[in-house]
Amino acid sequence: MSAPTNISFARGAPSLDIVAVDDLRTAAERAFTDDPGGAFSYGTSAGYGPLVSWIADKHGAEPTQVIATNGSMQADAFLFQLLVQPGDVVVVEAPTYDRTLLSLRGLGAEILAIPLESDGIDVSALEQALEAGAAPRLAHIIPNFHNPAGCTLSLEKRNRLLELAERFDFVLFEDDPYVELRFEGESQPTMLELDQAGKVVYASSFSKTVCPGIRVGYLVGPAGLIADCRRIATETYISPSMVSQAIVAEFCRSGAIDRSIETVKRALHERRDTLRAALARELPDARFVVPEGGYFLWVDLPDDVDVHSLAILAKERGLIFVKGTDFLLEGGDSSLRIAYSGVTPEQIEEGVARLAAAYRELPGAPA
Ligand SMILES: Cc1ncc(COP(=O)(O)O)c(C=O)c1O
Repeated sequence: MSAPTNISFARGAPSLDIVAVDDLRTAAERAFTDDPGGAFSYGTSAGYGPLVSWIADKHGAEPTQVIATNGSMQADAFLFQLLVQPGDVVVVEAPTYDRTLLSLRGLGAEILAIPLESDGIDVSALEQALEAGAAPRLAHIIPNFHNPAGCTLSLEKRNRLLELAERFDFVLFEDDPYVELRFEGESQPTMLELDQAGKVVYASSFSKTVCPGIRVGYLVGPAGLIADCRRIATETYISPSMVSQAIVAEFCRSGAIDRSIETVKRALHERRDTLRAALARELPDARFVVPEGGYFLWVDLPDDVDVHSLAILAKERGLIFVKGTDFLLEGGDSSLRIAYSGVTPEQIEEGVARLAAAYRELPGAPA
């Protein structure tokens, strides 16, 4: 018998069929024709001027408050390099994006992990920790369609976080690459918009709405802090890729981005619905918050389930996913993250059937 074709629930990336290849080609041609000088020279560490202006307009900020980088991971790296010294306390959500955890640990930060609830970080637990003397430099928050948890931060909690950032004097790092991908429910204002005290640094990205290969992301924040990030950027790479940013600028200017966002949302909405129904049918023990948008759904299985054994059994059936433990400093042993962004509805049906079969194979599983 031949091995089944592998299905990946692991990668937080869009499938190629929802990338606007033709519109990207048109944007590249237009950018190279209209502004070859801008696209093909070094440029400045702030990023490609027309894109920086577009981002500033979108967020009601001044261009001096923006830096456009090679993906938002690069923006995170500049910010962390600037703000986080070994031993500094940094608040993260538990669970959180695995690469953020790795970067912060690499910098020697002391990580204060605060649990997530279905409407975002447990702000009361954070407040208690602050009142008990924790003095973070920075709090990293993923407000919309969380990676990995799928949940969205409520408006009330956004306001409470802003109050805490002001009262206890720390930077709120709002990491928001999924904000445009809402399928249903009401959009919440960003903390950047709500901020009166200059406490928020906001990051977003074109990876999830255009394509990850273009590697364009950005920060918006207080001009002084952004100037410092620009200095680190100059020292690191002179300037980010002007070719990529010129293409993205034209993609945004022409309105192609709105069509791309619609395509991605329509496809991911259908994939989310398929996943939710398949899990309810095939794996009734699974507990999850239904994401109102974005790429990910987080599954909690009964406490006695060992996700490491489940991952091995699933892999034997040609299914991979990321174990909950990758997103936490401790715990997550009965949880997993399913990315539905890179798989078709048919692959989701088949993937969940494989997951359920692996689950039934676990020692002590219900018959
Ligand atoms: C929360 C979060 N932040 C940052 C990133 C990095 O995005 P980029 O491709 O812009 O570097 C991701 C990508 O998965 C993410 O989920």
